[in-house]
Amino acid sequence: MFKFGRNKDNENQPSQGGTGDALLDQVWAALRTVPEPELGKDIVTLGMVENVKVENGKVSLVYVLTTPACPLRDRIRDDVTAAVTRVPGIREVDLKFDSRVPKDTQLFNKVDIGVRNAIAVSSGKGGVGKSTSAVNIAVSLARQGARVGLMDADIYGPNIPMMLGIDEKPWAEGNKIIPLEKYGLRVMSMGFLMPANKAAVWRGPMLHSAVRQFLTDVAWGDLDYLIVDMPPGTGDVQLSLTQLLPLTGAVIVTTPQAVALSDVIKGVDAFQAIKPPVPVLGVLETMSYFIAPDTGHRYDIFGTGGGRRMAEQLDVPFLGEIPIDPRVREGGDSGQPIVIAFPDSDAAKAYEDISQRIAAKVSVINLTRPEEPGRFMASPDLPVIG
Ligand SMILES: Nc1ncnc2c1ncn2[C@@H]1O[C@H](COP(=O)(O)OP(=O)(O)OP(=O)(O)O)[C@@H](O)[C@H]1O
Ligand SMILES: [Mg+2]
Repeated sequence: MFKFGRNKDNENQPSQGGTGDALLDQVWAALRTVPEPELGKDIVTLGMVENVKVENGKVSLVYVLTTPACPLRDRIRDDVTAAVTRVPGIREVDLKFDSRVPKDTQLFNKVDIGVRNAIAVSSGKGGVGKSTSAVNIAVSLARQGARVGLMDADIYGPNIPMMLGIDEKPWAEGNKIIPLEKYGLRVMSMGFLMPANKAAVWRGPMLHSAVRQFLTDVAWGDLDYLIVDMPPGTGDVQLSLTQLLPLTGAVIVTTPQAVALSDVIKGVDAFQAIKPPVPVLGVLETMSYFIAPDTGHRYDIFGTGGGRRMAEQLDVPFLGEIPIDPRVREGGDSGQPIVIAFPDSDAAKAYEDISQRIAAKVSVINLTRPEEPGRFMASPDLPVIG
């Protein structure tokens, strides 16, 4: 059976009187001294440890991460190993990782479309690398093992089909549209439904119903993360979307220039004006610098440090910077995102780091919600441990 609430009552954990096995009790006690690096509480209370066994001086256990895109695996492994091997008689630790992404309960309470967390990628200004970032973050999360959907909410200028190299059309089954799949993502875009080279003219109510259709009429399936590529600015789509889909958080994209940065403020304000406010997961700076491939010299073409300063000023996290790399643009044009085409490039690695920071932030938001602290949701299709 899968477990629903993994908290203090977790059936895996020893009851008050202990397990009846002195060594195993000492191992559990040692595990209780290990704090979860981001939440600060101990990993046993948080229900992160399962299936603890001791055999011939060797401890085996499963550590359930809150995201497969966890940046802290090595640190967790080191901390757990150090604590457990301090128990006399324990020589070895066999730690296996599993993951279950906690759900955003606010989202589930409003629309149950199988999406655990919805993350908007937004900007105050157009052309700053929003869609490129949405695509690379989404693909990066999927490559790390998460179940990810990408919704192109830029209904005026949908770029996602081109950036992913999709030229098919989705089909319907019953009254649901089946999203297209590419690079492990489930993808939906108005670009699939509109004739090429035709501009969409959307007015208020039509736009609202288009956005609603994208959410409720698409068979998204069970997703850990739905990444939403927003149109530029802070207009009607943003409003409709946030009315229909409580967002777990928003990523604000900018370039280092002052002009773009003044728009960051607009972008952040737009999400904080919504009731309840959408948490800003952080500022992501794109086109931050250029490293000349021949000389290795760094050029700060659009200035430097602006995104970081802005994040500090706004008191939101700085998620990282993406260098200018012609291969990022070529990848967008040819339908091969840089994280697929050149996974070892600096830009791809930066996207991977940023995707991990976003996933970690989402976990923290969900696990520290005042109404349901530490509440996880397991779903029947996830691997069952124990
Ligand atoms: N790091 C980068 N290096 C080089 N080119 C980039 C980088 N990031 C984005 N680009 C290019 O910049 C252009 C604009 O990017 P993109 O379409 O992602 O921006 P956007 O913010 O989504 O734009 P819009 O507001 O029109 O939706 C694209 O041609 C893209 O390939
Ligand atoms: Mg775009």
